[in-house]
Amino acid sequence: MSKGTFLLESYGCQMNISDSEIVAAILSDQGYTQTQEVKEADIILLNTCAIRENAEQKIRWRLKELKSLDEKHNKIIGVLGCMAERLKHKFLEEEQLLDIVVGPDAYRDLPNLIKIAEEGGKGVNVFLSKEETYADIAPVRFGSNGVSAFISIMRGCDNMCTFCVVPFTRGRERSRDPYTIVEEARQAYEQGYREVTLLGQNVDSYIWAGGGLKKDIPAEKREQAITFSKLLEMVAKVAPDLRIRFSTSHPKDITDDVLRVMADYPNICKYIHLPVQSGSSAMLKKMNRGYTREWYLKKIDIIRKYLPDCGISSDIITGFCDETEDDHKQTLSLMEEVKFDFAYMFMYSERPGTPAERKFSDNVPPEVKKRRLQEVIELQQKHSAYHTSKFVGKICEVLIEGVSRKSDKDWMGRNSQNTVVVFPKGNETPGEYVKVKITSCTSTTLVGEKI
Ligand code: SAH
Ligand code: SF4
Ligand code: F3S
Repeated sequence: MSKGTFLLESYGCQMNISDSEIVAAILSDQGYTQTQEVKEADIILLNTCAIRENAEQKIRWRLKELKSLDEKHNKIIGVLGCMAERLKHKFLEEEQLLDIVVGPDAYRDLPNLIKIAEEGGKGVNVFLSKEETYADIAPVRFGSNGVSAFISIMRGCDNMCTFCVVPFTRGRERSRDPYTIVEEARQAYEQGYREVTLLGQNVDSYIWAGGGLKKDIPAEKREQAITFSKLLEMVAKVAPDLRIRFSTSHPKDITDDVLRVMADYPNICKYIHLPVQSGSSAMLKKMNRGYTREWYLKKIDIIRKYLPDCGISSDIITGFCDETEDDHKQTLSLMEEVKFDFAYMFMYSERPGTPAERKFSDNVPPEVKKRRLQEVIELQQKHSAYHTSKFVGKICEVLIEGVSRKSDKDWMGRNSQNTVVVFPKGNETPGEYVKVKITSCTSTTLVGEKI
């Protein structure tokens, strides 16, 4: 018999969505049933993000909305994840209807916290762990397309980029047992998945020497440890027709070994998400990113040497503390030099408790941040269009993910470089590889025909 019904909504990055799959597994295992309907839910859980102010605003609005839907006040409402970790007990004071606040390392405690809430109490656990990687939990991939699966390979981050809240919300960096990662990839393959994406805030920093925090691994153990390039190779060997992707790579840590393994295995997709954040070395220093503009550009050259047709994407922040017009111009000129296939672009949003909030002044006026963002976006659109146009006339291997959102007569999939491809449906099925001749494109999508 079901102990109750839960609704689980995810906000924020892919790692959060992957965490929700762990939460669903923990609750299902304890006898709770998942629903997609607010009406049917006894328990409503929001897996939250704290990366920018507007991410948190979205959660506040959703909580308001849920409050009005829960007329009888008989539902248990909980917040999970990064915003829960950031606000801790304060969240309960600020949002009267909340019953549960649980941080990213405490999901195993959820059944217990739900029980406390059912008895009229408030369930809070925001403990950050040195060990937890949820390595033994088989995720319930409830939101998935059945073709692409996400696998968390590490948790936390030790980098302390000055603008970033993640080290505070997800704790110190630790890597997951590689054998459990390979096993999860194998199971996904057996269930019909044909693509796995290995997830971490900085996958190049992955290191397995038996568990625990990265900072505690002694030097003598590091030499024989399993690094990201080794892990990548282990996962690539699971099956030749299982595509491997990974995110996020860090410009200061990505190694030639990783690029060599990518070149050696056709099933490792030729795509790297390598966030630059800014094109100005002065800004990068202030951000504590650990590399300069020149270092970044050199990495791009090295990537293109090993992988001439590799797709490269980026994250860019405009209007960080003290950013001058010249710094901004340097971002634009770096973009011109690299010509990213794709980019996520943001205005700087000051986060409470971060080094930047404590040490610097958020002194670029909002309208300037916005104008600079607009210039970055416009330039990126040009570069994206340049990249998609280069595929026209070529043949791509596409993994079909499902029906196109725009037309149910078309399939949607991606090529190795992560560009979306749509083409007319025949008797293929999702999870199948097809060769598609590209006939036209928009700035983000390739259109073609199966050959
Ligand atoms: N670990 C990844 C990024 C994780 S957060 C990396 O190091 O690249 C995703 C992106 O959000 C970041 O790359 C950055 O561009 C953006 N971001 C993080 N904090 C931000 C802030 N305070 N304001 C605006 N954008 C931010
Ligand atoms: Fe944040 Fe920097 Fe860690 Fe990325 S590497 S999660 S930006 S602290
Ligand atoms: Fe991800 Fe947002 Fe947390 S981007 S790590 S869910 S702050």
